[in-house]
Amino acid sequence: MVPPTSSATRPRLVVVEGDITRQDVDAIVNAANTTLLGGGGVDGAIHRAAGPELLAECRTLGGCPTGEARITRGYRLPARWVIHAVGPVWRGGRHGEDELLARCYRHSLALARERGLKTIAFPAISTGAYGFPLERAARIAVRECRAFLEANPDFGEIRLVCFGPAARAAFEAALRETAPDRPD
Ligand code: APR
Repeated sequence: MVPPTSSATRPRLVVVEGDITRQDVDAIVNAANTTLLGGGGVDGAIHRAAGPELLAECRTLGGCPTGEARITRGYRLPARWVIHAVGPVWRGGRHGEDELLARCYRHSLALARERGLKTIAFPAISTGAYGFPLERAARIAVRECRAFLEANPDFGEIRLVCFGPAARAAFEAALRETAPDRPD
């Protein structure tokens, strides 16, 4: 019997409820805007926790288009890196929002892989100020993360960090819906 704590049995895609600024992973993902110069929500929380050097480094990046991501150091955060992803503003669902959100996850994960990182935590990108429907965003997030983990067996853990019970319920439902061993 494989001991429950062995890496062979530990899930590689997990949903947690908590504060992303406190996650001790290689990289946390920020739900940023195209200026990369900070904001409210999780963007504000990450900049507050990381300290002023984060904004100083962000200023050198020259912004980031929606659907893409940029990486900086984590400074005073427990996480060593911050990946700033720019999610789409929800405009009703007929302006490519789904694909732009999916690209945020794909680009963030690609940046982590390029740097040889093994653990990453995501917030629920675009589901706050940007108004993207939570359940729809959760399904996109889980689909993209599962695809990445299947294609990258050596990657460690992707943590989906929910800032409250509603988000947690939506992400756990998305996880259950797409569980690989789900009896069809
Ligand atoms: N840890 C984890 N998740 C958090 C935290 C936190 N400390 N704070 C907020 N969240 C959650 C929100 O509850 C929401 O589910 O992050 C999700 C994304 O919400 P926003 O931070 O509002 O981000 P988003 O909807 O992508 O809007 C981005 O808001 O803050 C500005 O500069 C940002 O312009 C950009 C826009």
